[in-house]
Amino acid sequence: MALKPFVFTTASRILFGYGSLSKLPEEAAQLGKRVLLVTGGSSLEASGHRAAIVRGLEERGLDVAFCEGVEAEPSVGTLQKGIDLFREAGCDLVVSVGGGSVMDIGKAVACLSASDRTAQAYFDGEPITRAGSPNIAVPTTSGTGSEVTKVSVLSDHESGRKASIRHDAMMPALALVDPELTFSCPPSVTAASGMDAFCQAIESYTSIRATPLTDAIALEAVRLTGRAVERAVENGADREAREEMALGSLMAGIALGNARLGLVHGIAHPVGILYDIPHGVACAMLLPPVMAYNMEASRAKCGRAAAELGLIDGPSRQDGAEKLLEFVAGLNRRFGIPERLSDLGAERSDFAHILKDGMVSGSTQSNPRPVDEAGFLEVLESVF
Ligand SMILES: [Fe+2]
Repeated sequence: MALKPFVFTTASRILFGYGSLSKLPEEAAQLGKRVLLVTGGSSLEASGHRAAIVRGLEERGLDVAFCEGVEAEPSVGTLQKGIDLFREAGCDLVVSVGGGSVMDIGKAVACLSASDRTAQAYFDGEPITRAGSPNIAVPTTSGTGSEVTKVSVLSDHESGRKASIRHDAMMPALALVDPELTFSCPPSVTAASGMDAFCQAIESYTSIRATPLTDAIALEAVRLTGRAVERAVENGADREAREEMALGSLMAGIALGNARLGLVHGIAHPVGILYDIPHGVACAMLLPPVMAYNMEASRAKCGRAAAELGLIDGPSRQDGAEKLLEFVAGLNRRFGIPERLSDLGAERSDFAHILKDGMVSGSTQSNPRPVDEAGFLEVLESVF
């Protein structure tokens, strides 16, 4: 059978491995002179990494301005604040060091810095016509894969809407992944972000937009994250587990950046914002019911993934997809992931809102089994 034509893009350059962070200053110096350093909470500071990064950049002769305290599920207002800081300081490069929310803000600030419209206008769908400055993304969690995507997910907390801005110019010029930076992640964050990575690996592997390139990368991401996530949660100092999670989440990010995701992410966005739960927790709890919904459509690939994870003897066994689902449910139980939406205070009257937001999502439209309104509601009901 002839292959469908496809395009594959990722960050221009990827630096991976323990010790990579020491290369940040020389890499940054090749891309700009005045850096806006975008960071999140205080853990980067407590670990001493923030001071070392600033010192390293300054020693290379770079000026550093700061955009600090980017929150989880970042708002359109935070993006606007970042753009204002970038312009006021006359920056020409963004370096974002943090979790997905921090990198999402950093990428969007760099891209939109050249434009004259507000962040709100772009959130509302204004097309981006001018590419701004380059950005470097440095993840401190193993989860979102945002370091290798051209997407920024933002929340409008007033309207309860979550939407993404995407543009080729948002793709990091450099993704710098040093597993050492994930050591300060507490077990709860390691579990939530790790399940996001695992879910993204599964969803990009089974997506209708998957290609031979994304398949190879996504399957390895399933294997790496599926095998390592529990070890990384149990012992945050396990160097091998941290390394496998960092590599697995990077690979899942590369896969999803090209193959998109599936119904888990279509539902997780409105659910995350509505019940104020971390993105990874929403993904983890929705993965088993969506896998059940997709069972026949993705049976062959889930069987292959189950074999890679050692859950069955070989991909020819018929019950691989069921074994994979049991494996995910077991991880969720051991990580204390809530099982039902009603445990989060959900009411059936919320379904209309979740449906409206989730049905139009590009993730929902990439799901292996077509999703109509009845199918969407069937999944919500099964996890209610
Ligand atoms: Fe995700």
